[in-house]
Amino acid sequence: MTHNVESFRKRFPVLREKIYLNSCSQGALSQDVELGMLEYLASWHRHGSPWDIWVEQYESGRRLFAELIGAEPEEVALVASASAGVNALASALSYKDRNKVVIGEFDFPTMGHIWLAQRPRGANVSFVEAEKGRIRVEAYDALVDRNTLIVPLTHVCFMNGFRSPVAEITKIAHDRGALLLLDDYQDSGTRPINVKTMQVDAYVSGTLKYLLGPPGLAFMYVRKSLAESLVPTVTGWFGQRNPFAFDVRLLDPAPGARRFESGTPPIPTIYGAIAGVKLLQRFGLQKVADQIRILTTALIHGASELGIQIKTPLDSEGPLVVLQSKDAEGLVRLFAKDGVICSSRHDGLRISFHAYNTLDDVKFVLRLLEQNLETLVTAPPAVVAGSES
Ligand SMILES: Cc1ncc(COP(=O)(O)O)c(C=O)c1O
Repeated sequence: MTHNVESFRKRFPVLREKIYLNSCSQGALSQDVELGMLEYLASWHRHGSPWDIWVEQYESGRRLFAELIGAEPEEVALVASASAGVNALASALSYKDRNKVVIGEFDFPTMGHIWLAQRPRGANVSFVEAEKGRIRVEAYDALVDRNTLIVPLTHVCFMNGFRSPVAEITKIAHDRGALLLLDDYQDSGTRPINVKTMQVDAYVSGTLKYLLGPPGLAFMYVRKSLAESLVPTVTGWFGQRNPFAFDVRLLDPAPGARRFESGTPPIPTIYGAIAGVKLLQRFGLQKVADQIRILTTALIHGASELGIQIKTPLDSEGPLVVLQSKDAEGLVRLFAKDGVICSSRHDGLRISFHAYNTLDDVKFVLRLLEQNLETLVTAPPAVVAGSES
């Protein structure tokens, strides 16, 4: 039913009216996710308070996310946001023997805030600087040392779509005895992923972007032996071995990553999120990646031909392409008038692709860009060899 792009697109009613290029903020709503959420409402109507069914759904969500990233279910915590998961992890670390946190300036701000908030507990946060739209491996090599506790790393940058060289940075971190935490929020759902092959120590993502789910749910992988060596101080009853023991005097962290959970799980979101992941799995994550690469390449090629400054590295496989604009917010509003939904950050017009986008979408956008070239930053003319005086 969802074997090719055309039939996949039919699952998303918004695409009948709009060109949807904002999966980097929020994935488009499919009929499948809508049905998932209606199933939650129906269960509430039918049974009153079916917490046994809802807890089973929450556990099946854990199994599904574990399968999605190649982990064991007991290595996955379901949390209300990526921030909630990483805060619990940060709260469990000791900053005594090692205290350096090395984080890229391309990371999402919440990650900076979380680690900076650990300063009173001894954390010393260093930011790795970008150069010409990239953060080079050498910059991590220079900053990560034997005093480094953890390297939180964004897989894809939300501002310019730069893809971090995860394997090289993980090796640098591990060679110096530091942990690596991958923030995959701007990429998960766009390609197959395996946390074990990547050898990251922890991984976090959430459901509302390329995983096509509603807001309110994130998941965090923590390698089992690491999880069990840590006791979070940000916790609650769902982080306990038996949440239903109802013992106010006993702190008994759950085995594995579940200890990083805290309060009542977001059940409605879990119903919707499961439907989103299953829809992607039916279509095939490799096919998602292939479609995104074709569209990214076409947009970068077309925008380059128009002379537009592209903030994303030109060899990008997507999913996010960012064009430099003199008025990115204004362009977003202008595009919206023509039924194109995208977003902006600072001076960047963000165009993000998913498997429901087509080359016709790219053509339409290129036409709009051409009509609005004066609001884009165009590249200085190439220096012709021998023309310098
Ligand atoms: C890369 C990245 N990490 C984290 C977040 C925020 O996650 P949360 O709001 O679930 O804490 C975002 C949100 O846009 C993001 O793009």
